[in-house]
Amino acid sequence: METIVITGAGGHVGTAIRPLLRDRRRLVLLDRAAISDAGAQETAIVADIGDEKALIQAFRGAAGVIHLAGCTTEEPIEQQIAGNVQGAWNVFAAAKEAGVPRVVFTSSHHVVGHYPRYRRLGSEAILRPDSRYGLTKAFGEQCGAFFADQAGLRVLAIRVGFVGEKPIDRRRLSIWISPRDLTQLIEIGLAHPDLRYALVYGVSNNARGFFDNGAAFALGYRPQDSADEHAAAILSGPPENPDALGSRVIGGAMAQQGFSGDPARIDEW
Ligand SMILES: NC(=O)c1ccc[n+]([C@@H]2O[C@H](COP(=O)([O-])OP(=O)(O)OC[C@H]3O[C@@H](n4cnc5c(N)ncnc54)[C@H](O)[C@@H]3O)[C@@H](O)[C@H]2O)c1
Repeated sequence: METIVITGAGGHVGTAIRPLLRDRRRLVLLDRAAISDAGAQETAIVADIGDEKALIQAFRGAAGVIHLAGCTTEEPIEQQIAGNVQGAWNVFAAAKEAGVPRVVFTSSHHVVGHYPRYRRLGSEAILRPDSRYGLTKAFGEQCGAFFADQAGLRVLAIRVGFVGEKPIDRRRLSIWISPRDLTQLIEIGLAHPDLRYALVYGVSNNARGFFDNGAAFALGYRPQDSADEHAAAILSGPPENPDALGSRVIGGAMAQQGFSGDPARIDEW
């Protein structure tokens, strides 16, 4: 049975996907915060992704790494760089050094969060990060491309929308992904024989989607869930403020934080 390391395994996404992955594999749960509920197929390790030596040790013998850890809220740039730039570098470099053939990296829709919502973006869209968070997550995608070319790692970067049991507001009707659909994408990253480097959107089959996820479909992704069944309940609630930048762009409230630019530029580009 193969071993997979999950960085940031104790967080929201790690907790949601672990039960869907562990039947078929041994999981090494790596997190800087102790994980106390490791099951029979799981081993918990306390380590920081800032510590490349600890990563190399944890990664040896693994068939793949699912890299979730990082700075996931809009913190000062120093924290973003430590978690999402240096941290991502260390994870890919450690995978190379430890001989791990595959890395699945969870990026974020915030790398394109300044696009207006009426656009339908493919994987090749020019990046328009909406935050320090989105900006530094973009580095992780590029790290994946670099290590795929330079070291032959097989890398899937997933631009995740919103992971949860169900969408929670109008914007999330467009970007929601169920844990089982995200797990399907992760499985593609861990096993697809033709994967070298690919960038896909981590969204379920949502009619209101902002993204053209052809790159995922080409790899065999067939989402099982859709935000649409929750649309009536959400759309019967209060409308978004049509004048707020966050209501017009993909990134929502995070895109609005600190915005002092020209809102017209959002549409001009
Ligand atoms: N939750 C979502 O809807 C969502 C949406 C888009 C992208 N993502 C991405 O998915 C990944 C997981 O997100 P999440 O919601 O589970 O985040 P989270 O904040 O809930 O969990 C992150 C986990 O990483 C750990 N961690 C943070 N810094 C670390 C470090 N330096 N070393 C070791 N462990 C560290 C934390 O202790 C935590 O357990 C992130 O990369 C995030 O950018 C998530």
